[in-house]
Amino acid sequence: MLRFDYGMAAAGVPVSAIEALGRRAGECNRMLEEGTGAGADFLGWVSLPSSVTETELRRVKDAAEKLRAVADVVVVVGIGGSYLGARAVLEALGNPFACLRRERSGPDVVFAGQNISEDYLYDLLEALQGRSVGVIVISKSGTTTEPAIAFRILRGELERRYGKAGARERIVAVTDRSRGALKGLADREGYATFVIPDDVGGRYSVLTPVGLLPLAAAGIDIGALVAGAREMEAATAAGVPFGRNPAEQYAAARNVLYGAGYRVEILGSYEPSLHYVGEWWKQLFGESEGKEGKGIFPASVTLTADLHSMGQYIQDGERMLFETVVSVASPLHELRIGTGGDEDGLGFLAGRRLSEVNRMAEAGVALAHCDGGVPNLRVDIDRVDAYGVGGLLYFFERACGISGYLLGVNPFDQPGVEAYKRNMYALLDKPGYEKEGRRLRERLKER
Ligand code: PA5
Repeated sequence: MLRFDYGMAAAGVPVSAIEALGRRAGECNRMLEEGTGAGADFLGWVSLPSSVTETELRRVKDAAEKLRAVADVVVVVGIGGSYLGARAVLEALGNPFACLRRERSGPDVVFAGQNISEDYLYDLLEALQGRSVGVIVISKSGTTTEPAIAFRILRGELERRYGKAGARERIVAVTDRSRGALKGLADREGYATFVIPDDVGGRYSVLTPVGLLPLAAAGIDIGALVAGAREMEAATAAGVPFGRNPAEQYAAARNVLYGAGYRVEILGSYEPSLHYVGEWWKQLFGESEGKEGKGIFPASVTLTADLHSMGQYIQDGERMLFETVVSVASPLHELRIGTGGDEDGLGFLAGRRLSEVNRMAEAGVALAHCDGGVPNLRVDIDRVDAYGVGGLLYFFERACGISGYLLGVNPFDQPGVEAYKRNMYALLDKPGYEKEGRRLRERLKER
């Protein structure tokens, strides 16, 4: 269902060096399964696809159905790992032009709490006028400022419109089993609640209710998503030989390229629907590996669009880049270029499928980038459907865990994320941060 091709890494490092790392990659993979590496308390995601039960999926689907019955817009509130997975799958599988349709088959799903922009939330509230609204609020810690602010505002709006009891029917919380302000609030208000398992960190949580509930609310086949991930769990298990294990191969290739000075990885795809998979992937790898002064900087491009903005740099700029392309074998639909005439110079393409042109663009770019000193890796998937995307996400998670261990970091913590929060609280005079607030204000004056 998914293949990994590192043949074109040869533009930067010998393929034999990647294969030489195979044994170590296998050991790191085993550490994930046996819980013998750093961050072993956060390995619940490893066997999540094979352990999620029909009953759990049913409960998620039932809650989603209830929301779909009362709401024609569902606002999903969350940030980081409590946001990007659902968004990535939704954008991958949804029709980007759904807003143009007169007939809707289910609620619109939109996102909030991933920023603190006054205008963003104002525009959202305005757009919600006249619509019937439901809210899914997601926060593992239950204390993250951005979603907490958005939820306070949206909850106020729902209570104003529907009363407290009516709002209760339209709000579902996804949070920790016992800790955090959101858990307390959900218990007090009697919201339907889903638990994020203790041993699954935010950026690895897309296959828990964090991702599954918003996706089910959008009408996505979460059973197929999990089934794709389940197959990938088997295909990437420790014990599957390196030559057939795409996650170990990808992790090893990244590690060898990093060691050879390739410090930036660009994830690209020729399917624009995968744009947010790139955003999700950036968080996954950036937050998992970027620590202790180490780590590949993850960037992403959507192709061919970004060849007309970033293409020059990739081809010709500073040589520190390698590229990983998610290559999709078959489109879901068929569309051909019109026949007749050559006034526009496209006679040679008449009658040919767009996917053929797209594939030739992809092949031509890979060769050009390799010639320009940008090693290429390729992740091949059959198509962008729920099954394929489930497999793709799990593949990246598994490779990320192995890659973090190869790099020698704990891929399951994120100590650096706290620094900005402390400063923001101090500058906003949060109780307990007053002294630090005065010190930071002095620093800002000095600037
Ligand atoms: O991966 C992570 O742990 C983070 O990106 C979190 O998901 C993000 O900070 C949101 O945290 P929370 O779900 O606690 O609100």
